[in-house]
Amino acid sequence: MITKETIEKVLDTARIEEVVGDFVDLKKRGTSLIGNCPFHNEKTPSFHVSVAKGIYKCFGCGAGGDSLKFVMELEKYSYPEAIRYLADKYNVPIEEVQRSPAQLAAQDKRESLYVLSAWAGKYFKEQLWTTEVGQSIGLSYFKERGYREEIIKKFDLGYSPDQWTIMSDAAVAAGFHKDYLKEIGLSIERDDGSIYDRFRGRVMFPIHNLTGRIIGYGGRTLKTEKSVPKYVNSPESEIYHKSDVLYGLNFAKKAIMDKDTCYLVEGYADVISMHQAGVENVVSSSGTSLTTGQIRLIARFTKNVVILYDGDAAGIKASLRGTDMLLEEGLNVKVLLFPDGNDPDSYVQKYGSTAFKDYIDKHQEDFIFYKTSILLKDTGGDPIKRAEVIRDVVQSIALIPDEIKVSVFIQQCSRLLDIEERVLLTELNKMRLQKAKAQEKKEQAAPRPSFGDGPPMDMPPADFFLTESERTEIGLPPAEAVQVITAEILQEREIVRILLNYGAEMATWEGDGDVPVAPLLLSALDDVTFEDKPSAFIVDVFKKKAEDFEIPEAKFFFSHEDKDVQDLAITCVSTPYELSPNWNDDKRKIYVTLEREHLKELTIQAVYRIKKRKVEREMIKVQEELKAGGSEADMDILISKYQKLKEAEKLLGTFLGNIVVK
Ligand code: GTP
Ligand code: MN
Repeated sequence: MITKETIEKVLDTARIEEVVGDFVDLKKRGTSLIGNCPFHNEKTPSFHVSVAKGIYKCFGCGAGGDSLKFVMELEKYSYPEAIRYLADKYNVPIEEVQRSPAQLAAQDKRESLYVLSAWAGKYFKEQLWTTEVGQSIGLSYFKERGYREEIIKKFDLGYSPDQWTIMSDAAVAAGFHKDYLKEIGLSIERDDGSIYDRFRGRVMFPIHNLTGRIIGYGGRTLKTEKSVPKYVNSPESEIYHKSDVLYGLNFAKKAIMDKDTCYLVEGYADVISMHQAGVENVVSSSGTSLTTGQIRLIARFTKNVVILYDGDAAGIKASLRGTDMLLEEGLNVKVLLFPDGNDPDSYVQKYGSTAFKDYIDKHQEDFIFYKTSILLKDTGGDPIKRAEVIRDVVQSIALIPDEIKVSVFIQQCSRLLDIEERVLLTELNKMRLQKAKAQEKKEQAAPRPSFGDGPPMDMPPADFFLTESERTEIGLPPAEAVQVITAEILQEREIVRILLNYGAEMATWEGDGDVPVAPLLLSALDDVTFEDKPSAFIVDVFKKKAEDFEIPEAKFFFSHEDKDVQDLAITCVSTPYELSPNWNDDKRKIYVTLEREHLKELTIQAVYRIKKRKVEREMIKVQEELKAGGSEADMDILISKYQKLKEAEKLLGTFLGNIVVK
């Protein structure tokens, strides 16, 4: 176990803008930094980072947290993995509490898989650089392909000897469990339970995740027989999800942000050769067709993609397939073909890096023209085929979410296809209508999302008022499965918001002014039970601390183990006024000053609201007791109780009405 001191040190050292900045292209806007949210797909940035508070918050999807939560959510790290990652980033030495054998055994499995993966990476590297076969077969192969030593090292390339069990044996001897070797696919189990190496006699291309840890391998054969598959790849595992990985992205992400463009190629070899040529903003989909996950990964860093594919028929088809998905995700897509069946790797090796860079600068073409001209070539003047091409091209244009781009493309394609713009537009609208209808159907069929993540100022969700049978009828989950935000919850959360933002401010309106807001609020609400669980928790912590005259900072809750507590704290301190891009700096300042200047009204109002609600509840109870009937004396007592409550309610209402918060 990592010691508490280490964890605190790590959390103190980590700077949110740096931690997030490794994964998201952040731009300064007012007092916060903003970028495209890495947790959901978006076309305009709503992801905000507050350097002062050390947190991030997305107003699009509601994601929010501190540095630690960011890496946990993004990289799917466990708590200790995330601490280790941050410790590593900031060179904080990790102190560990001694673990018992049982604890060791139960140690996070994923961490063990990462460690084993890294070990294998080192093993294959040693084979390549220090053994005779490694050098004479593996290293010389890379060198023949034109790779220089520094690039071979940079990409952690290696060699796996042509033997059945050499790597597996070494791993077991080094203390790794057979099950883990199997799990990440370095070894394969035979029927008799023994294991053998998956990669034999192959040069090894490790696949890294965004943080640079090895999560899988591609192994290329050196044999030329057709019967041997050229590449053997690691299978999916707990640490390797192929659809969310792009080869080379960890090496490319900075260059992609700097150049605001990402080159997309097919093979490992293309990525490496381009790096060597000095073009580092390049990633590979590793032979498979692109997934939405991969596209969103790119979209985090840039909106501009250039697809670089071999100039053969297969390459062209592949690039056409990929483009539609890229368009749909709102990316600007260009296409670049290499002549005479070259791929980026062979072109750069043949003609050198200057010629290569020159070629890719000059031959990028907007996908839509590329697609149009490719398809037109095949028609041979056949009018029916031509009509098909038109439909096909317009279909692609219809996917583009940006209206301005759409109209530009329509204009230019009208020229290219020699057809009136009006005709293309009619076709486009027809397709959009169809798409909208299909979408509507899909949405009706899909279960609704839960409503728990909205900011506390939200209205109750629309289906809050449905009865249980109405819910089942339209296919909604039972109400208790959905967290409903009621007015009561909002009131409680408003208290928490005041505590977290202004708890330590002086309540200047209270006599000589040396009482902070927090104890004042707490004593006013002493008799109120909080029903919203995370609110109750936070208020409780404030109460406990108040006994020692302490006021906890909001930060204290940001990394809390209970996700609801965490979310509430984060949402409370990120007011939309502070972080919304629609508010310019002056407006934000005005808002914050306003709220601060009206602390008195804010506090009293929040307290009165909750008290009023308490009174109202009490009134309902008394009413029910009255309905139930009883002796005359009992009734009299109830009636006078009701009247007192009614007066209190009225009074509170008047107070509330008189409080004006500008
Ligand atoms: P070289 O032929 O050495 O230049 O490799 P390359 O990386 O350029 O490969 P190529 O362009 O032939 O294929 C593109 C990508 O497809 C490769 O990087 C692999 O990820 C994948 N791939 C190619 N051949 C195979 C195969 O036989 N099996 C599997 N699973 N993947 C393959
Ligand atoms: Mn190749």
